[in-house]
Amino acid sequence: MWGDEGKGKIVDLLAGGFDCVVRYNGGANAGHTVWIGPEKFALHLLPAGILRTGVVAVIGPGVVVDPQALMEEIAGLTARGMKIGDQLKISSRAHLVMPYHKLEDQLSEGVASGGQKLGTTVRGIGPCYAEKARRSGGIRFDDLLNEPALADRVRRIVENKAKVLAALYGHDQPPDVEACLHVITDARASLSGYICDTTQYLDDAIRSGRRLLFEGANGLLLDIDHGTFPFVTSSSTGPAGVASGAGVPPTILRRTIGVTKAYSTRVGSGPFVTELSDAVGDRIREQGHEYGTTTGRPRRCGWFDAVACRYSARLGGATDLAVMHLDTLAGFERVGICTAYECDGERLDVPPAGVARLERCRPVIEYLPGWGDEVRDARTRSQLPPNARAYVECIESLVGAAVTIVSVGPERSQTLLGGGWDRVVQDAA
Ligand code: GDP
Ligand code: IMO
Ligand code: MG
Repeated sequence: MWGDEGKGKIVDLLAGGFDCVVRYNGGANAGHTVWIGPEKFALHLLPAGILRTGVVAVIGPGVVVDPQALMEEIAGLTARGMKIGDQLKISSRAHLVMPYHKLEDQLSEGVASGGQKLGTTVRGIGPCYAEKARRSGGIRFDDLLNEPALADRVRRIVENKAKVLAALYGHDQPPDVEACLHVITDARASLSGYICDTTQYLDDAIRSGRRLLFEGANGLLLDIDHGTFPFVTSSSTGPAGVASGAGVPPTILRRTIGVTKAYSTRVGSGPFVTELSDAVGDRIREQGHEYGTTTGRPRRCGWFDAVACRYSARLGGATDLAVMHLDTLAGFERVGICTAYECDGERLDVPPAGVARLERCRPVIEYLPGWGDEVRDARTRSQLPPNARAYVECIESLVGAAVTIVSVGPERSQTLLGGGWDRVVQDAA
């Protein structure tokens, strides 16, 4: 959907049944939360598999990596007693997010002047991907190891950036070249041991029958091509991004799990047809603790949007759906589901491409009776109250993909697994 569906929880839960967990898109704009008992982990760049002993965590070529953020994340886990060592592999082809990318993100978002445009996470994602697409000035992990004159190139890049930022945004303080050079030296000193040709590593893994789990970031409706452009992120977020972003053949995906909440949320700007700017939306936000993992921003909340989810599931070829946060809807007298859009007198079953039209869409909401009882202690679908079960079945039939996972709380154990996922998790345990 638009991110923060609970991908981190699902990846962590299933990771024990896999050999490698691979991030293929995005960067530190992601915030993937994992609860292990009472301990909370918020991962931004490290694949969620990092929390499982024996699982290799791979950062693929399509990820844009802020080395400072990554080093902080590694230091955070090390301080909590984890050893990372061989468990982490960073693609030599992945691009570095540099301080001037974050600065440009801030300037283009008008952060300094209090403005809000796309409402990005200000992690430098768009500017770094733009730099890569322009093919001038991009820095890759391989350059840290193999480009003897990298420091000189960084100086030239920073000089150019200063001119561009002054011309575009009237910014008169050039990026600090010494700080940029420090980022490079620190990254080289701390991260070199993890850098490798991850595509070769994954090819070997595939050939020897090892099992791979790919961890999407950001959400399909934020996809650069298929999302609510321009209110999107800058990468191919869905399963279609796996092949290029991870560097694996497109034919290897066997199952794709579409992760969605039982309602909808969005953070940042952009159209959101089922948004509830009222007490019901506030109640969902409070019951679901809907505040951003990366930026702390309150998330916009609304009823489940079956039109948007069906579109995502179709594009992603979802063989499975994971419906998260069913517990958050407990206690509502009735629960809404958007079954179609109405726009300019027309009924739509798929989201229109353009933002202006999408903004004019009104949701056709059907209400199902709510369930008063807590569902957090349910461990099988049959233990859910009948109305909660009916709600999940309604999502399944409107979206057209099998709901094989239902989540009733943030922790690993608060998950109802079907579709063979129970065996994956048991085998791992
Ligand atoms: P991600 O970006 O898709 O990994 O999702 P986030 O971690 O940004 O946001 C999901 C939030 O919901 C986190 O705080 C999770 O701990 C929490 N969460 C995940 N699944 C459930 C659930 O079924 N019920 C509740 N109440 N919280 C959940
Ligand atoms: P996870 O992986 C929620 C949103 C931002 C903004 C737009 C562009 O945790 O689900 P960017 O910084 O990428 O240029 O921002 O995309 N966005 C996310 N929203 N969860 C995310 O990641 C997001 N990643 C980007 O809020 O609207
Ligand atoms: Mg998140």
